[in-house]
Amino acid sequence: MRHHLISVTSVIAAILLGSLAKPFSPRWHDMRIKHSWNAVPENWESLGNPLSGTTIDLYVALKAHRENALINTLHQVSDPNHPRHCCCSKCRYGKYLSDEQVAELVSPPPRTLEFVNSWLEYHGVPSSSVSMTHGGTTLTLSGVSIMQANALLGASYQLYRHVETNETVVRTVGYALPAALHRLVQTVVPTTCFSTPHTQWQSPRKRSGGATAGLKEPVSGEPVTVLSSRDDDWTTPSFLRSLYKTTEYRPAAADRNALGIFGMQDEYPSPDDLAKFMSVYRSDGTDATFIVVQVNAGKYDPTNPAGESNLDTQYAVAMTYPTQVFFYSVGQGRSGTDDWLASWFRYLRTASNIPRTISISYVVDERFIPVDYATYMCTQFSILSILGVSVLISTGDDGVGKGDCVTNDGSVRFISNFPATCPYVTAVGGTTGHEPEIAAGLSGGGFSNVFKRPDYQEQAVTEFLQHLGHQYQGKYNATSRGIPDISAQALNLPVFIKGQKVIAYGTSASAPIVAGVISLLNDYLISRGKATLGFLNPWLYGTGMSGLTDITSGSNPGCNTDGFSAIEGWDPVTGLGTPDFQRLLAILPGRGGAG
Ligand SMILES: *[C@@H]1O[C@H](CO)[C@@H](O)[C@H](O)[C@H]1NC(C)=O
Ligand SMILES: *[C@@H]1O[C@H](CO)[C@@H](O)[C@H](O)[C@H]1NC(C)=O
Repeated sequence: MRHHLISVTSVIAAILLGSLAKPFSPRWHDMRIKHSWNAVPENWESLGNPLSGTTIDLYVALKAHRENALINTLHQVSDPNHPRHCCCSKCRYGKYLSDEQVAELVSPPPRTLEFVNSWLEYHGVPSSSVSMTHGGTTLTLSGVSIMQANALLGASYQLYRHVETNETVVRTVGYALPAALHRLVQTVVPTTCFSTPHTQWQSPRKRSGGATAGLKEPVSGEPVTVLSSRDDDWTTPSFLRSLYKTTEYRPAAADRNALGIFGMQDEYPSPDDLAKFMSVYRSDGTDATFIVVQVNAGKYDPTNPAGESNLDTQYAVAMTYPTQVFFYSVGQGRSGTDDWLASWFRYLRTASNIPRTISISYVVDERFIPVDYATYMCTQFSILSILGVSVLISTGDDGVGKGDCVTNDGSVRFISNFPATCPYVTAVGGTTGHEPEIAAGLSGGGFSNVFKRPDYQEQAVTEFLQHLGHQYQGKYNATSRGIPDISAQALNLPVFIKGQKVIAYGTSASAPIVAGVISLLNDYLISRGKATLGFLNPWLYGTGMSGLTDITSGSNPGCNTDGFSAIEGWDPVTGLGTPDFQRLLAILPGRGGAG
């Protein structure tokens, strides 16, 4: 829907700014830095100015008028037990919002659009190139020339190439906005976010001799549990289904339920490999398929699958068969330089049907993500949650951090990965073994430096920190969101790629495995006409905890330390533990009449 520019008057400007600005002097020239890096981000090199005539689409994300309303409502619809949220007949649990209700909740302050449009008009951006998306919370400026983008944002857009992957993007090392717009605009995309989440696909080892074209070399130095080559593929679907107690369950709403897998960077799965995997590991489901949804020019070539996509899809399908599985192949749009995550969220806001459970196995070191961007993306995740979607995201495969983790000031800081650190998603760590199941050494875990600790995990995390005492003080942020929330097996997983069996490991696998268990719980709820689980954490940190198996040994070394230890209760290695489907089923909120 196009939004017509409305010419602004100084009256509106004065109301908005609450100031006595001089008439007709909106001061669009008073530019203040919104975000800037000190240097070109690591591993990116400038290729100079984009070719003349290059245009980009700019997305101006507006702040919500009532910033707390979204999160308050999210807690009300996701927390089955909180007395403040759930009293008597007024319980809002499971009453997920419609797109219209979300748009209302996140709408910007009155007259923001007019005000922002007057800025665009001042710079000669034609109204025909401005449209409103996300229910009026984002302004899209289509086909903006680089010169105009530079002028609007006090930026210097250049073409940059990633030195390892050769990905090229049009970005700027810094950008600014008129002072008057800072409190109205959350972020502008694309600007300073270079790094995007990358695959957690890890070091597949060949089962036996034979070519496995296209596989990456093993990452060295990973603390992987060593098992003999003869039985190194024991983490099979039947093992997982028995360990997490889903074997007996028969999906009853497979046609109405769906599980979504997020993919990007031209990575997608192969249906032939899935068929092969199923014939070996789930012979009752050899007719299994998935549906590929190509978003924003996302690619799909079934003959050239990626390890990550095959791993995610094969485990999601094997855990939930015959539930529908959607695979999103997210691209970078017409320009070829769009932001992947942002384009996926744009797609979801217009999609008629979003799967009730979504798994994401791509992460990026939080330090490489601008805070204004991370905050915006986390808001997008909270919107998915408030629509009733359970989002599971892997925490990464480097324990508390890769390398020595020494910062500029010489101190050691543990690393944590976005978007798992967003408090409105469920972060998934890794385990291995059984009787007892223990933490996998690679399990990403720790504390955000961007997002503060959400209420739902206050007690659980505080108990862990009391246990930890002074150890690692200064190496992690004791006031912030801890990850993971939950975990599942991460080592010795057979995967088929181009007809060959390889053994994979990583929290990449843990996320779709947990998503599979959650999707089966949603199946049960849908089949009974009940609301699906939506955002899981308020439940998991409350009554849901008794449906998890606490993991109490193992640790996640990294940054030249032993890392954190898994202990009784929550820990930043395995979270609250691993799922037990039968126990979770027995305590499902809303299962009985009272919910
Ligand atoms: C990146 O480009 C260089 C030079 O064009 C090439 O040698 C290299 O193989 C490319 N790397 C990847 C990962 O595609
Ligand atoms: C610690 O986390 C909070 C958010 O919880 C953040 O505001 C603060 O900047 C972080 N501290 C450091 C040193 O990064």
